[in-house]
Amino acid sequence: MNPFVDEIVQRAAAAMALPEDAVRSLVSVPPDESLGDYAIPCFSLAKERKQNPTAIAGDVAREISEGIDRSDTSRIGQVQAVGPYVNFMLDRVRFIAHVLDEIFSRGVNYGSRNQGQGKTLVIDFSSPNLAKPFSIAHLRSTAIGNAIYRLHKFAGWHCVGINYLGDYGANFGQLLAAYRLWGDEEAVRANPVPELLALYIRFNEEAKDNPELTEQARACLRALAEGDEEVVGLWRYFIDEGTKEAERIYGILGVHFDEFLGESYFAEKLDEVVALFESAGLAEESEGALIVRLDDDDEDMPPCMLRTSNNTSTYHSRDIAALLYRYEQYDFDKMVYVTDMRQSLHFRQVFKAIELLGLEWSSRCEHAPFGMMSFKGAAIATRKGNVIFLEEVLDKAVQLTADIIAEKNPNLEERDRIADQVGISAVIFADVNYRRTRDISFDLDEVLNFDGETGPYVQYTHARFCSILRKHGAPVDADADPSRLGEVAEMRVARQLAEFPVSVERACEENEPSYIASYLIDLATVANRFYNELPVLVAEDDELTAARVRLVDGVGQVLRSGLSLLGMKAPQEM
Ligand code: ARG
Repeated sequence: MNPFVDEIVQRAAAAMALPEDAVRSLVSVPPDESLGDYAIPCFSLAKERKQNPTAIAGDVAREISEGIDRSDTSRIGQVQAVGPYVNFMLDRVRFIAHVLDEIFSRGVNYGSRNQGQGKTLVIDFSSPNLAKPFSIAHLRSTAIGNAIYRLHKFAGWHCVGINYLGDYGANFGQLLAAYRLWGDEEAVRANPVPELLALYIRFNEEAKDNPELTEQARACLRALAEGDEEVVGLWRYFIDEGTKEAERIYGILGVHFDEFLGESYFAEKLDEVVALFESAGLAEESEGALIVRLDDDDEDMPPCMLRTSNNTSTYHSRDIAALLYRYEQYDFDKMVYVTDMRQSLHFRQVFKAIELLGLEWSSRCEHAPFGMMSFKGAAIATRKGNVIFLEEVLDKAVQLTADIIAEKNPNLEERDRIADQVGISAVIFADVNYRRTRDISFDLDEVLNFDGETGPYVQYTHARFCSILRKHGAPVDADADPSRLGEVAEMRVARQLAEFPVSVERACEENEPSYIASYLIDLATVANRFYNELPVLVAEDDELTAARVRLVDGVGQVLRSGLSLLGMKAPQEM
């Protein structure tokens, strides 16, 4: 991917008699960077061959050295064994020149290898339950899903982002029943979201010791399925309000969907789904319901229900109908669902059911689960019913950012707009900053710390590098002599810049935007270190300044690309 690392891998693989992939995963950076730019440890090979790692490193280094000496085109300057490591010193000038040329010739496409050319990704994300306020779990799904979408698009995939609106099911029965019992039309019309939430919460509290209420909720759902005019009218009103609210939030977050087809649309396709499984001989009656046995030998794969004894569709059958529809519509190469981990079994069941129908494409479906988010710190109030208002979190984030900016940079123009961009992006970054499946505890003060491993830190570094270019005043010199560069601090930056395409590829393959988040933190860190260690604008002479300014420009560009992949803004000043 990077011809310098490729050459290291090829030569080392030959000398170690190992497959290239195995060697590639061993490549690291020596702790003492004055000893080399990359290193390969020989422990595993030594263990396998029952030999001393230091001796092996010596042999391998000697063999590679001889090969390099014989070659006029090698990109490696020097190879040396240091203890159990084989250390590689690149032709540094050539390396930095190569990295910068790649960045500036590919422009905003630097980092993409167009691996997705000709392929289609369908991604189901966010998908809030419209009977409830937009929750933090849905925020996570939105942020992670949006990043996965953007990553694939960047890598050349055709992407279809689907919002599978939760506009059907038990929650709606509850909300409908609550409204009929206690709803105040005027109050609801004036202030729909909080009023409906209050009704929903009251219903769930009172239903705990009043089974009659649950029965009423069921009756409402039945009436909805049967098309009762009054109930349908109310339901439509609720989903319109919920959708408006969700769209407002997508506007704030800058997230776009290509399709909004919710569960209610697929509830109507119940009969088609049932017919498919029946004609395949896969459906069976069980206590009045219709079920599919997925794998009797696997305790972890219980049967799934297609139709309830009430004759209504289920979360499973609606998802199966939606999946069949999506394959037919989009002929996808990859279909990703982004929800919290509690739905893992659900998706395994859905995919298995499709597999049992003999549809080979079931293997293209993936669940990208994420862990739970809890709240720390006093900044956010938890309301009755344990609901955290997403908007309150976003507002607070913006407000606290505005305070920080007022202190750090009181003369900044457009302070409000930038506080908006930084505050919202900080929340997004917090959502994608750790491996998806990890549970995270969210603390606004931490998330907004300009010096922590945060979104604002990356953005701040970007703004700082933009400001170096502004102070430089003159245009960046595309012909600046790269042979002036090669200090350890510069190499560190160049090496990290060269890693960008690797991180993008891994992030796509594993649906793991956190690789980009970590990448950006690392890039910001080495870039700041470079700027703190070496003078840029007042270097020894103008040529050196020009060369370093070009490196600064490259850093700015890659930070911007990475932030954009995560759905974050990159203000020029902050
Ligand atoms: N509405 C669901 C929920 O809030 C998430 C839907 C995920 N997508 C799907 N196709 N099931 O839990």
